[in-house]
Amino acid sequence: MKSNKILIIGNLKQNPKNIKEALALTRHYSQLKKLAKNVELGIALPFIFLPAAQKEFGKGLPLYAQTLSDAKDGAHTGEVGAAQLTSIGIKNVVLGHSERRARGNTNEEIAGQVENALAENMHVVLCVGERARHADAEHINFVEKQLESALFGIKKTDAPNITIAYEPVWAIGAAATRAATENEIYEMTITIRKKLVELFGRTAGGDIRILYGGSVNTENCESLLSIHHIEGLLVGRASLDAKEMKSIILKAKK
Ligand code: PGA
Repeated sequence: MKSNKILIIGNLKQNPKNIKEALALTRHYSQLKKLAKNVELGIALPFIFLPAAQKEFGKGLPLYAQTLSDAKDGAHTGEVGAAQLTSIGIKNVVLGHSERRARGNTNEEIAGQVENALAENMHVVLCVGERARHADAEHINFVEKQLESALFGIKKTDAPNITIAYEPVWAIGAAATRAATENEIYEMTITIRKKLVELFGRTAGGDIRILYGGSVNTENCESLLSIHHIEGLLVGRASLDAKEMKSIILKAKK
């Protein structure tokens, strides 16, 4: 069944610079969680900080990895597998983030990552989003293809463990000039919902949560959350600022 809570995940990326700051920020998130009963809060930390954060805060706060291996195990230097993460209690992962795709993760590899994570019963936040908008609606086909290739062959029974994050690449990070507009987001969430229903059927596909990510901040979070089909936010830069995060949560709570 669909959760009626708003899901807000802070994606710390390759931040902060040390374990002390990472734990301080995670502590802050676990306190914020108590502020908003209708908000599910999560934090996506670099691998290196996950064991300590899990030990201290993992019981009360969902912690997310930022990627995982498309291989189950074996000779893959530098990779971390889904089973290794679950063995320390990490049950959530962000996959297919555009910054991972920019570093070479292909649709095919992301499909392998999704499959491995779901096989371990992890909750997967699958990121999709176009690099640019095209007058001929090529961006629609682009996102449809990302969804199809990542989710092809995934069983309907795994659908409750999937969340989609729509993150237009042009709206992400310091180089972005703005978040996407309501109309731009709405056009794509309709496309995403249609594809999910096609892949998993009306009930399972209709129940998958869709988040928006890309230049989310305290000024725009309310209007972003008011868009039909948007049921949460993936927050980058603002996730590192404890005060900004608190204000986003309080606004989302209304
Ligand atoms: P941003 O990043 O909020 O800094 O634009 C979002 C993301 O990459 O998930």
